[in-house]
Amino acid sequence: MGIHVHMPSAHAPSGPGRPESGRKAPGHPDSWWQCAAIYQLYVRSFADGNGDGIGDLAGVRERLPYLASLGIDAIWFNPWYPSPMADAGYDISDYRSIEPVFGTLADADALIAEAHAHGIRIIIDVVPNHASSRHPWFTGALAAAPGSAARERFWFRPGRGVSGELPPNNWQSIFGGPAWTRVTEADGSPGQWYLHLFAPEQPDFNWGSADVRREFEDVLRFWFSRGVDGIRIDSAALLCKDAALPDVSGGERPGPAHPYTDRDDVHSVYQAWRAVADEYGTGGSGGRMLIGEVWLPDAARLARYVGPGELHTVFNFPYLNCPWDAASLRRVIDETLALAEAPATWVLSNHDVDRVVSRYGRPDTAFSLDQRPYFHRFPVDLALGTRRARAAALLTMALPGAVYIYQGEELGLWEVQDIPDELRQDPIWTRTAGADPGRDGSRIPLPWSGTEPPFGFSPAGSPSEPWLPQPKEWRDLTVSAETASPDSMLSLYREALRIRRSSPGLRDGSMTWQPSADGVLAFDRLPGEGAAVRCVANLSAGPVALPPYASVLLASGPLADGSLPPDTTAWLRVG
Ligand code: GLC
Ligand code: CA
Repeated sequence: MGIHVHMPSAHAPSGPGRPESGRKAPGHPDSWWQCAAIYQLYVRSFADGNGDGIGDLAGVRERLPYLASLGIDAIWFNPWYPSPMADAGYDISDYRSIEPVFGTLADADALIAEAHAHGIRIIIDVVPNHASSRHPWFTGALAAAPGSAARERFWFRPGRGVSGELPPNNWQSIFGGPAWTRVTEADGSPGQWYLHLFAPEQPDFNWGSADVRREFEDVLRFWFSRGVDGIRIDSAALLCKDAALPDVSGGERPGPAHPYTDRDDVHSVYQAWRAVADEYGTGGSGGRMLIGEVWLPDAARLARYVGPGELHTVFNFPYLNCPWDAASLRRVIDETLALAEAPATWVLSNHDVDRVVSRYGRPDTAFSLDQRPYFHRFPVDLALGTRRARAAALLTMALPGAVYIYQGEELGLWEVQDIPDELRQDPIWTRTAGADPGRDGSRIPLPWSGTEPPFGFSPAGSPSEPWLPQPKEWRDLTVSAETASPDSMLSLYREALRIRRSSPGLRDGSMTWQPSADGVLAFDRLPGEGAAVRCVANLSAGPVALPPYASVLLASGPLADGSLPPDTTAWLRVG
């Protein structure tokens, strides 16, 4: 029963076959990830190689030249493991294999090797907070008796009430509904309850269990030994729980007083993981990286996750949630750069949030996960949202640090808000009884070519439709249509990434704010060969005069008579 124990094989060398390292950043070891452009690849919706309407690794392998020509340095794969897909793969039943719908472990090995040959590194998602309810450890726990060692790996507790008919406490699932589900014991009687901070199909691991800790360290070695370069850690602040499982009042802040968010003991987990990553190299082209998905409002608490003994870096969610407003963005940028422990990351979107074109096309341009229904009530001005998304792309790619690009962002895809109810897949939709539309609208299969769905997502003549329907308007947003158009979002991303790649000073190093009018962000980067590059972003309602410049490197829209129109960003060579 349970998981086989994998002994680490010889560590992958950092020799031939591994991409060359980038240049050194001040104050940091020479590490590839600190100023990389990282493409977030959602396998299910990227490209379908075998015609079943679902993206797969064969599809990714065919399209690696596209990613190489886009100019990215690494790919982060959303979970690719065997999964019942109750939460799109974030419910993992085997951490050491590949979902059969996506391919095989041999496909993953080939993909890693081929990506490396293109100079592209691989980051995979590891989900340590919870397993699938079909994971052998959990099915084993269900079959075992209350109080058994098998149940100790999860959170099983008797219910409250006269006959245990009430959940052990009042915690709510992040996807809606109670965070506890009652099991039926082997003799058929109603039994204990188990904790799931997400869907019932995602039982939470007990990180007080030594088995759990050992298991995950071994899973990391399994993938690092196969050549994986980095790990994205899912729900990283939630792992440790107060074992007394007290009710929440709602007023607790994340931190040691919170029963399950950002508790202090979580750090010992990542200190151990860092030691594992460091077994494979600590920098240069062979260094292995850990990036945490940590949503915390408090910068000081966030800072505790990063540093030499812990995670290399974390996602910048304040930037992703920030409205299209100069003062707010400037504050977030400054706060990010003040977090000296971690090289900055810049994130405009991911598979959990609304696509950036839609977000910026609404009267309220902020975003937050728990207020999606509110944001969806606004009309979306796609032309405005697209113009701002272009300006935001250039602002973002001019900042020092690593930039994350969620697949389809480079095409300017919008959030699809009119998916027919019966096709929606996100558990958030069902668990909130439709009150929250969920995240399917950001996960629509990519349009590659042609003039009608499936837009080359599946091979021509495939029997199956894409797993979520694509808007017919995306005919103008296919990779081939945008490749042919110099004014497309794709051409802008390609050009920005090319310039960024060829000017090391645009990737790492420092930035210096320049005086600017209200609603305008202006800063200089020093690419090291004399003249500075100035990024000027106009978020105000009217045109602003451009500073004197030698040449325009790139602009997100047409410049008029030495002035920068609203919702436009320019990269200028100055001085
Ligand atoms: C993270 C993932 C999200 C998933 C959740 C539960 O927030 O990004 O997609 O549903 O964790 O694993
Ligand atoms: Ca497929």
